[in-house]
Amino acid sequence: MPQRDKRRIFRAPGRVNLIGEHTDYNQGLVLPIAVEQEIRVSALPRTDRVVIMRSKNFPGECSFSLDNIEPSKKERWGNYPKGVMKALQEAGYRLGGAELEFDGNIPAGGGMSSSAAIEVVTAVAMLTLSGIVADSVEISLLCQRAENEFVGVNCGIMDQFISAMGKKDHALLIDCRDLSHRQVPLPFSGYKIIACNSRVKHSLISSEYNKRREECTAGVKKIAEKVPTVSSLRDVDEKILEQYKDMLEKVIFKRCRHVITEIDRVCQTVIALDDGDLIRFGKLMNESHTSLKNDYEVSCPELDILVERALEIEGVLGSRMTGGGFGGCTISLVQEDCVDNFCRMMAEKYMTETGITPEFYPCRPMDGAGELMGTD
Ligand code: GLA
Repeated sequence: MPQRDKRRIFRAPGRVNLIGEHTDYNQGLVLPIAVEQEIRVSALPRTDRVVIMRSKNFPGECSFSLDNIEPSKKERWGNYPKGVMKALQEAGYRLGGAELEFDGNIPAGGGMSSSAAIEVVTAVAMLTLSGIVADSVEISLLCQRAENEFVGVNCGIMDQFISAMGKKDHALLIDCRDLSHRQVPLPFSGYKIIACNSRVKHSLISSEYNKRREECTAGVKKIAEKVPTVSSLRDVDEKILEQYKDMLEKVIFKRCRHVITEIDRVCQTVIALDDGDLIRFGKLMNESHTSLKNDYEVSCPELDILVERALEIEGVLGSRMTGGGFGGCTISLVQEDCVDNFCRMMAEKYMTETGITPEFYPCRPMDGAGELMGTD
């Protein structure tokens, strides 16, 4: 039975990645921020092992026992929280039943990681209701495992990590090789990061994502034949890559070059941010986009239009696609007093060229997941 007087509310944010795209599953560096858009869950503990879940954003209700968690073909949204509960229990955490009602304002399919947010908010809510304290790194890893194994999406660790560990006014530098991380203060006074949703969702994303992963693995395998100490692209620099260029198929070489140069751009971005040098950061954003477009080939015409048009507008220091690609959002670094004009001009230009009305979200770096206090 639900314990009605014990309702608690938890939240977990979506994210945009400032730089370091498609580097997380190559043991590289990433630099995301948690954003204002989030998923909330209103949670009531139960005294038995039954879980009942509803969502204000999707139809249907999921009802199941914690002793028998199976994916559903109908309420697919429910597979994310279910997978998390399964992963938590497999890790030895004994959960109690609950009634969960999800609500969120992260645009689905917008590339701002609504899936990681629903996973992380589920983990935080279920653990807290069950009186369990767990480390945020472990929570992120278990949520990633749920997405990989239960939902069947082969994502890296970035999205779950930032949703669990974001910090207001900071970006999180994550070293995906050893999961060490550091909060990087953002010298954004007078500037804003504006996400612009292309509102296109290409079905390519999951098949192409897996293909890119395989291409990177193929590159590593080839290079390791010559340099046995290489176990990921993190161990390869541009010099080594050039040296073995002839051994690699052209497309594999380009994929590797993106990852290697992108990891370097993350390092350079952190230096630029530490120096308060936003002009340099803007240039690195532009270089990142070019590399994602030409070498990694995960952009699409709509994202390219958004980036190219953004760079023509006054007060814009840089622009790039963010997230997995093939649709979703770009982010632009825009002078604060030019933001209104930026959104107006972008909407006009994008509409003229594509017939689509884009959406804009100012991205204030926010705290990671937690319980909302003082609510009932
Ligand atoms: C998706 C994945 C992340 C990461 C990005 C690309 O968002 O979930 O793990 O690989 O793509 O940087």
